[in-house]
Amino acid sequence: MQLKPLHPLFAAEASGVDLARPVDAGTMRAVDDAMDKYAVLVFRGQPLTEDQQVAFASSFGTLDAGLKKLNPGAASRFRHEVTIDISNVRPDGGLHGAADRKSISNFANQLWHSDSSFERPAAKYSMLHAVVVPAKGGQTEYVDLRAAYDALPGDLKDEIANLHSVHAAMHSRIWLGDKPTEAELAKMPPVRWPLVRTHAGSGRKVLWVGAHATHIVEKAIAEGRMLLLELLEHATQREFVYRHEWGVGDLVIWDNRAVIHRGRRFDITKPRELRRT
Ligand code: OGA
Ligand code: MN
Repeated sequence: MQLKPLHPLFAAEASGVDLARPVDAGTMRAVDDAMDKYAVLVFRGQPLTEDQQVAFASSFGTLDAGLKKLNPGAASRFRHEVTIDISNVRPDGGLHGAADRKSISNFANQLWHSDSSFERPAAKYSMLHAVVVPAKGGQTEYVDLRAAYDALPGDLKDEIANLHSVHAAMHSRIWLGDKPTEAELAKMPPVRWPLVRTHAGSGRKVLWVGAHATHIVEKAIAEGRMLLLELLEHATQREFVYRHEWGVGDLVIWDNRAVIHRGRRFDITKPRELRRT
């Protein structure tokens, strides 16, 4: 496997591996080592079937169905419950309207977040595979939260050192107009995280912020939310951002413990299809 850095701080393109076939232990180790360092790996030209993607993803560990766990067995275009449909395509082949619940979920993916930070344990890695990409917009951006932590002024590092935040699955969706049921809310109770975490893969500290954070445990709601927004604004300065321009057949893997990500706006009357495991 060869690696080519894509950004001064993190993210690399990996080549020389065929992900459609079983990946040997040595290569898996090389991927994990590269993930510990770069946190985002881009593989281009990997036209995987759903089965092939699930097989590759499974070699990292148990797969999490994410928010699909709220409504198990719901209509899907996929064979596997663990394949997450990051598309605006309905099971009948049409496109979702802007007010559809699925579209709210897709728009929520355009807010900076770490997948499933509202669960403990949360997902270590996510991977997205591009099947149909729009002509304009629809990129995915990543921020290295380790670099963001390092760049904080010393007094702010001290101020947040012992604070905690609460992350809730529906927080960003409710903000975008979704109305989850009591049963859905009860299935995913909020979780608490330190605001500063250590990334197990690199030993570096991480500024643990994102759209699933509802408030800071030790502060009044308003004061805590404003601090969370300030920290997110700090973390998402352009120098910390890698923007991925999708090509069909790309597979991007990221470490949710070290980066946050967001999709960018596109014309939702055109199809955009990615598959996540
Ligand atoms: C995701 C996600 C962003 C995008 O799949 O977890 O946040 O660009 N996607 O679709
Ligand atoms: Mn996501």
